[in-house]
Amino acid sequence: MKAVILAGGFATRLRPLSCSRPKTLFPIINKPLLQWIFEGLATNEIKEAVLAVNALTQFHIKQQKPPRYGLKIKYTIDPPKTPLGTAGPIKNAEKIIGHEEPFVVLNGDIFADINYKQLIDTHIKTDALATIALCKVDDPCRYGVAELENGNRIKNFIEKPAKGQAPTNLINAGVYVLSPKVFDYIPKGKQCSIEREVFPVLAKEHKLFGHMTDGLWMDIGKPEEYILTNKIILDNLIMANKLKPLKKSETKSPVAIDKGVVIGKKTVVGPYAILGKNVIVGDNVQIRNSVIFPDVKICDNVTIDGAIIGEGAIIGKNAQINKGCVIADQVKIKDNINLTEDFAVCPAKEISETILKRNIIC
Ligand code: GDD
Ligand code: MG
Repeated sequence: MKAVILAGGFATRLRPLSCSRPKTLFPIINKPLLQWIFEGLATNEIKEAVLAVNALTQFHIKQQKPPRYGLKIKYTIDPPKTPLGTAGPIKNAEKIIGHEEPFVVLNGDIFADINYKQLIDTHIKTDALATIALCKVDDPCRYGVAELENGNRIKNFIEKPAKGQAPTNLINAGVYVLSPKVFDYIPKGKQCSIEREVFPVLAKEHKLFGHMTDGLWMDIGKPEEYILTNKIILDNLIMANKLKPLKKSETKSPVAIDKGVVIGKKTVVGPYAILGKNVIVGDNVQIRNSVIFPDVKICDNVTIDGAIIGEGAIIGKNAQINKGCVIADQVKIKDNINLTEDFAVCPAKEISETILKRNIIC
């Protein structure tokens, strides 16, 4: 069976970190999200994946080369000036997917423990043209919401209903099985939304079904969700014995520390610190509740709490980086700087004075 991974969106809520890397390559416990997705597909016996991207995302993926777990990978690329939305890229992959059997489609920006085999089974057992993996959330308004009837038939699908208007709290987990007939519902070469233009039509024709999932499901759309996802996966990996708790004196469990990391004296890393490859940490530093991308240099006496620090950033001596701060790739923070809550700094910027108000610095 084949899968289409939608990964050509613009990840606006994770800017400025997403200015220099697509969301599907954000590391989750030091492994790009896309690598987790490949692994999940391969363990469910899916043999081939089509990455539906734009040219820039393709460039980043090819540079990073995440392991493929035996999957055959192909790319389809949106036209330069026309992002195809969430349905257009599926139509674009029609030739590669073919018409022989149903196929999986998934959003490349969610971390989900989905049993694709069960989802496919549910699809085959009904006369569905599309079967959507559903999960329950507290606030459904940011998602696609499904209303069921007769067991698992979706009678109504509403994308991002207004506050208070969601008929249920069952949301589209961003994973589907589609029958090739769905290609007939999508125009060629045009922007088209599967959630707004295809699912409601299929629901009216009684061809849209849902499949409840209860595995872990996380959207990494916002910075705080991205940090939370890393924290939850870290706990899970340690509980499942897939990541050994570090017993070094300078770490407070749980932590994840990649290869080549150097930690100075009197420094405390953790709890919930994720340090990417070759991160260098000076003396008397505190890092907690934070994700530090590879090749970051953190000088002496720095405190980082609740922040994301992009690849290759340099954090000068005595700096304080507080909750909600998002420091993009290659940023340089000079010595003695205090960044209060929710600061966002664009790639390669240099910060040379303390800033106390919430801001985006570009
Ligand atoms: N190739 C391509 N071209 N991919 C795109 C485009 C495009 O123009 N636009 C979006 N995508 C990809 C994104 O990269 C992402 O992986 C996926 O399609 C979904 O788009 P988002 O922009 O992230 O949508 P969303 O998060 O607001 O909502 C979607 O996901 C929710 C679950 O996280 C919807 O499918 C909701 O119904 C769903 O609940
Ligand atoms: Mg999304």
